[in-house]
Amino acid sequence: MKNKRVLLGITGGIAAYKSAELVRLLVKAGAEVRVVMTEAAQQFISPLTFQALSGNPVHTTLLDPVAEAGMGHIELARWADVMLVAPATANTIAEMVAGRADQLLTTTFLATAAPVVIAPAMNQQMWANPATQNNMETLRGRGVLVLGPAEGEQACGDVGAGRMLEPAELVACLMAPYTGPSLSGVHALITAGPTQEAVDPVRYLSNHSSGKMGHSLCRALLAAGAEVTLVSGPTNLLPPHGANYVRVDSAREMLDAVMANVETAKLFVATAAVADYRVAEQAAHKIKKNNDEMSLALERNPDILAQVAAISDGPICVGFAAETQRLAEYAQGKLERKNLDMICANLVLGENSAFGSDDNALEVFFRDGNSQSLPRADKGSLASSVVSLIAQHYFS
Ligand code: PMT
Repeated sequence: MKNKRVLLGITGGIAAYKSAELVRLLVKAGAEVRVVMTEAAQQFISPLTFQALSGNPVHTTLLDPVAEAGMGHIELARWADVMLVAPATANTIAEMVAGRADQLLTTTFLATAAPVVIAPAMNQQMWANPATQNNMETLRGRGVLVLGPAEGEQACGDVGAGRMLEPAELVACLMAPYTGPSLSGVHALITAGPTQEAVDPVRYLSNHSSGKMGHSLCRALLAAGAEVTLVSGPTNLLPPHGANYVRVDSAREMLDAVMANVETAKLFVATAAVADYRVAEQAAHKIKKNNDEMSLALERNPDILAQVAAISDGPICVGFAAETQRLAEYAQGKLERKNLDMICANLVLGENSAFGSDDNALEVFFRDGNSQSLPRADKGSLASSVVSLIAQHYFS
C-alpha cells in the first residue's frame, strides 16, 4: 500500500482500541494514514495515540480553524484514496445511511468520492436487528464495502456476530485491490435473483432466490476492476453502485438481456435461479377458481447458461448449481452437460440453505477435474473468493 492515502474513521465502540494496531499495520504496509475520530471514540481512546502512530494530527471537529479555508471535511475527503471506518458502530452506520452531516466523520463520508470500506462492530443483537440489517443492505447497495463483522465472544459477554474483524484481516482486505486479483479491462456479465413466470396478470411461478449471492458477486467483480453488467430478476436489493444494471422478470427476458450484452463479455457468471419451466399459455385475465383441481401445462424455458457456453469464442462460463442432495455428482453433471469452465455448487435444503441467507458455503468444480471447497462465510467474502479463483484460473 505504498503511499496509498488511507483516511481512517474511528467511532465510539470498545473495538476502537484495536484501531491503534490497525494504524500501526497500515503504516507498516506503506500507507499514509490520517485519522478522524467521533466524540464518542475519544471516550474510548485518546487522539494522541493515533497522532503518535500515524505521525499526523488527528481530526475531531467539523469546523476546523486549522484547515485551509476552514473546510477540513472537504480537504480530507479529497485527500483520501480510500476511507475506512473501523470500528463502525450501529449509530454511525445509521447516520451514514441517513446522510447526516453534523459531525466530521459522516460529513467527510458524504463529501468523499473515494471508495468507502466499513468494519462494523456492535453487540450481536444490535447487529441482527432488522434496522441495522436494512442499513447494511442500503450501504452495500450504494457501493460501500462491508468487511465483517466476525463471530465470537463479545466485550459485553454475548456470543455471536458483531466483533470487528482483526486489524491484520482488515489490512489484508484493504490491500487486496493492490495485491489481489485484477479483472481490469474485463467485461463481466452476470445473472442474479429469481425469474418470475406469469400464470395470469396476478400470479406467477418463481423460487426463493433473493439475489444476494449474485449481487455480492457483482460487487466483488467491480472491486476486482471488472466492468460489470448485472442482469437481475426481481429482488429487494438496490443495484450495486457502478454496475450496468438490467432488470428483468422472466427467463426469456433474462435471455434477451444476456444475449444483448454477451458480445463484449469475457466472463459470464450465472448465479440466477432461472425458472426451468413457464406456463404454456399465459391467461389474459385472472383465472377463476371454478374447479377443486386445476392443471397448468408447462413448457421448458431456454437454458441461458447453456446457450452462452455454446457460443464459439464466447466468454469464460461460470455456473452455479443449487441442489438438495448429491451436490458434487449433480454439479459435475451440469458442468459437463452445459460445457462450463467452472461451477459453484451450494445446498438449498434445511437451515443452511443458500436461498435468502446472508452466508453460504460452496463446492467449486473446474473443467480440468480440480475442485475446491469454500467453507461457510458471508456471501460478500465468498464472492471475493470465487472472483479470486476465476482470476487465477482464467485471467492471470
Ligand atoms: O439469490 P440467493 O438467495 O442469494 O441464493 C443464491 C442461489 C442459491 C440462487 C445461488 O447460489 C445459486 O445456486 N444459483 C443457481 C440456481 C440454479 O438455478 O441452479 P440450477 O442448478 O437450476 O442451474 C444451473 C445453472 O444453470 C445456474 O448457473 C443457472 O443460473 C443456469 N440456468 C439454469 C436454468 C436456465 N433455464 N437457465 C440458466 O442459465
